[in-house]
This record gives sequence, structure tokens and C-alpha cells, in this order.
Amino acid sequence: MTDTAIVPLRTDAPLWDRFFLVAPLVLVATKEDDGHDIAPKHMASPLGWQNYYGFVCSPKHATYRNIEEHEEFTVNFPRPEQVVATSMAASAREDDGRKPGLDALATRPATLVDCVLVEGCSVFLECELERIVDGFGDNSLIVGRVVAASAREDALRSPERDDNDLVHAEPPLVYLSPGRFGAVTTSHAFPFSIDFSL
Ligand SMILES: Cc1cc2nc3c(=O)[nH]c(=O)nc-3n(C[C@H](O)[C@H](O)[C@H](O)COP(=O)(O)O)c2cc1C
Repeated sequence: MTDTAIVPLRTDAPLWDRFFLVAPLVLVATKEDDGHDIAPKHMASPLGWQNYYGFVCSPKHATYRNIEEHEEFTVNFPRPEQVVATSMAASAREDDGRKPGLDALATRPATLVDCVLVEGCSVFLECELERIVDGFGDNSLIVGRVVAASAREDALRSPERDDNDLVHAEPPLVYLSPGRFGAVTTSHAFPFSIDFSL
């Protein structure tokens, strides 16, 4: 292994474009006026083992305002072939507020919350707003309680199916922040210690 110097990084500027971060990439859908909005988010994660899901959002985004108003949203996990349509959901709005980038994303009504699900995704979470935590600089954490969930059957783990085969057949989309993406087609069983327990 070649040795390399350890260099200090400035902490008075954002660190997150200095190296690659492995992140998910989800589409958050919200009710907006008589229709809906959809926006990609990569700063997103389950929060603990109960069914809470959170993501970072700017109060300047319509997504934030829509959730503040309606207190519901859905989280949709796009598949690798949807990466272009996913990116289009972050495109600019026209003067009348319409986001033409959303035209590439077909939707259907959610089952329990008053919002839409994005067709073609692998996993769908329907969330009621748990809380918004403001004040992480210019950003906020939006946390939802998952009140309904669904998934493509082919994307689900099962005792009859080898996990590695599943990953190969249904590769999860990852966002390599900043600005790259990948589809995970191979994986390895994690080498847990023999006495590990959660
Ligand atoms: C790949 C990608 C990842 C993004 N991740 C986030 C994120 O984690 N948090 C965030 O606030 N914005 C994120 N954005 C930006 C917003 O989703 C984007 O500005 C969106 O258009 C906001 O739309 P809205 O005003 O309709 O909510 C991301 C954009 C892209 C293209």
C-alpha cells in the first residue's frame, strides 16, 4: 500500500465536496396546490429501527413549504434506469411555477396519505410529518413517521432468495455525492464478529 500524507481540511467551508460520500437517492413527493411536487434528496436516512424516515431540506424549497402545510409526504426509491428522470425533478420551474421536469415521472395516488407515489420505483414510504428540526445552518431535518409502505415484490428479500442474487437482479441506486451515481450489482456478506448483536 502506498503511503499518503494526511492533510487538514478547512471546517469554515462545506466539507462535503472534498471527498465522495455514499448516499441513497430518493424522490420526495408532496402535495402542492391541486397537484404535487417531486424533488430528489440524497441527504436522507431511516432514523433508528422504528419506522421513521428523515431527510435534509432547505426552507427555500417548495418541498419544505408543502410539508409544513399538508404534514404528509412520500419517499420513493428510484431504480438505476430512472436516474435521468430523477435528476429532472430538480430542474428549474417556469414563471408560472410549473416544473416541466416532472413530466417524465408518472405517478399514482398513495394509499393512505394525500399525495402521490412515483411509478417505476422499487420501494414506497407514505409518511405523516413527525417534526421539522430547523437550524442546521441554512437547512432543516424533516422527519416522517411511515404509516404505509409498499415495494416491488422482486426487490424484496426472502428466505428463498440469496441476498447477493437479489442485489445483482435489482441493483440499488446509490448517489456518490457530489455528482456521481452507481448501481450496486455485487455485494458481499458483512463479516460480523461471532458475538455481535444489535
Ligand atoms: C442528485 C440530487 C440530490 C439532491 N439532494 C438534496 C438534498 O438532500 N436536500 C435538499 O434540500 N436538496 C437536494 N437536492 C436539490 C433539490 O431537490 C432541488 O433543488 C429541488 O428542485 C427542490 O425542488 P422544490 O423547490 O420543488 O422542493 C438535490 C438535487 C439533486 C439533483
